[in-house]
Amino acid sequence: MEIITKNAQETHDAGFTVGSSLKGSEVIFLKGELGAGKTTFVQGLSEGLGIEHTITSPTFILMRSYSLPEKKDRTAKTLYHVDLYRLEHDVDREAQNLGIFDLWTKPESVFVIEWADRLNTLPSGILEVSLEVIDIDTRKITITP
Ligand SMILES: Nc1ncnc2c1ncn2[C@@H]1O[C@H](COP(=O)(O)OP(=O)(O)O)[C@@H](O)[C@H]1O
Ligand SMILES: [Mg+2]
Repeated sequence: MEIITKNAQETHDAGFTVGSSLKGSEVIFLKGELGAGKTTFVQGLSEGLGIEHTITSPTFILMRSYSLPEKKDRTAKTLYHVDLYRLEHDVDREAQNLGIFDLWTKPESVFVIEWADRLNTLPSGILEVSLEVIDIDTRKITITP
């Protein structure tokens, strides 16, 4: 699926729609250059999951987790927001140390991972969200299951 967004709010709204549909065990890889709108999308996604406070980019701490409110037909209890931008070497070992490989794909978890293309270890059933900068305010978002 492809969406063109004309401002940050529209990217936020696209994230909200995806977040509202998540049940648990999803792993979402976010791709796109710096400033493409990955964190904006995740902020919308987290609101769609029912998280009330604004999430910030975890660039300097690699991973943040957020408790999710209970929702009917949803097994997910925690959103994990990971940003691998700062990591260049031994990315898989760092991810292992953070517990990512033990936590992802569990019914209790939803993972969103910025700069996930730095990982060599991939789970099955990734949802890929790719953001492409068209011009200063325009983005092309491609969502691939
Ligand atoms: N259509 C758009 N979608 C998302 N962000 C946009 C858009 N147009 C402008 N922006 C701006 O681009 C920046 C995206 O930043 P951010 O979400 O932190 O990107 P990333 O996490 O990919 O580095 C924000 O300053 C936002 O206001
Ligand atoms: Mg970011």
